[in-house]
Amino acid sequence: MEQGEGKQGPSEEAILAALRTVEDPDLRQDVVSLGMIRDLQVSGGKVAFRFVLTTPACPMRSEFQRRVEEAVRAVPGVESVEVKMDADVRAHSPLSGPRPVEGVRNIIAVASNKGGVGKSTVAVNLAIALAKHGARVGLLDADLTGPNIPTMVGLEQGYQADTGLVPVTCYGVKVVSIGFLLRPGLPVIWRGPLIGSGIRQLLHELPWAADGDLDYLIIDLPPGTSDAPLSMAQEAPIAGVVIVTTPQSVSLEDAAKAVTMFEKLDVPVFGIIENMSYFLCPHCGERTEVFGHGGGREAAQKLGLDFLGEIPLDVQVRASGDEGVPIVEREPDSPVAQVFMLIAERIAARTSVQGFFEETGAG
Ligand SMILES: Nc1ncnc2c1ncn2[C@@H]1O[C@H](COP(=O)(O)OP(=O)(O)OP(=O)(O)O)[C@@H](O)[C@H]1O
Ligand SMILES: [Mg+2]
Repeated sequence: MEQGEGKQGPSEEAILAALRTVEDPDLRQDVVSLGMIRDLQVSGGKVAFRFVLTTPACPMRSEFQRRVEEAVRAVPGVESVEVKMDADVRAHSPLSGPRPVEGVRNIIAVASNKGGVGKSTVAVNLAIALAKHGARVGLLDADLTGPNIPTMVGLEQGYQADTGLVPVTCYGVKVVSIGFLLRPGLPVIWRGPLIGSGIRQLLHELPWAADGDLDYLIIDLPPGTSDAPLSMAQEAPIAGVVIVTTPQSVSLEDAAKAVTMFEKLDVPVFGIIENMSYFLCPHCGERTEVFGHGGGREAAQKLGLDFLGEIPLDVQVRASGDEGVPIVEREPDSPVAQVFMLIAERIAARTSVQGFFEETGAG
């Protein structure tokens, strides 16, 4: 009788050897070496373990589950396999650079070179999508002069004017906007240096992690190459930035400008999202490319960046934003909400990969 067979069941070593044949295609290492297998229990022919992903929004979740189950089942003597899928988001902690934000594991910024392309819409829906995937998420409105986030999450401008600014939980996301502090109708004028100290305070002086670490803090930036992205990059380590474009505004030149700026600031660019990419008829589902389409993908290709996805022009996206219940919350099963969920997975995966290779120095 061969070792590992019979009543005693397989050995732990045999199970681990089988699991070592499963690789993470992004991190290019096997799942045992990556520490993804925890609490392995082998008793007789029964095998149980936790499979710990680097993000709850992992696009490979079910694929991983299928592959590890299959690998273990093939070991002689195995009668049953019980895999508990779990996730533990690792902190992005580069060796040098700005001071991390306490209790915040990864900061992801949403930027664009032009105004009105849908950064805030993307930021708020992305944050809610990540939370729906099971992550702990914050959202910081870094637009200090024209904050839109209060409207988008359905909170009144200035409602924290008397109590002071603290993160407020909306749709499972901890939200901060200077708009909560400012009563409506009062214009704010910030001088350059004040933007810097404003951003610093928003990042470092608020109790972001009062109820436990945040896996992701999404930062909604104002458009262009203003003081805000600069200050942000100086004040905190940014895991990566996503650049939003629209088909009518996108030009290679525009996207390149934003990319160059972030490269200069040493902030990795995760890729490009094309917003208002096509029109999906709410009645018949037909797809119309109103402004032409594909510019975002082309720009990404030419710049050697990932194309993270295309979001349709959808009247429900605008309406839900205006009404304070973002589409991912209001219609989670709608096609456009599903697009946001998918983009959130891609960004979460990119964040894991970025952190991993920064730590190991490989890649
Ligand atoms: N996919 C979409 N479909 C329909 N309307 C959209 C879509 N994305 C954004 N909008 C609408 O376009 C307008 C601008 O969007 P948003 O405020 O998110 O842009 P922004 O880039 O943050 O703008 P700013 O540069 O002023 O900060 C809003 O009215 C929003 O509801
Ligand atoms: Mg905005």
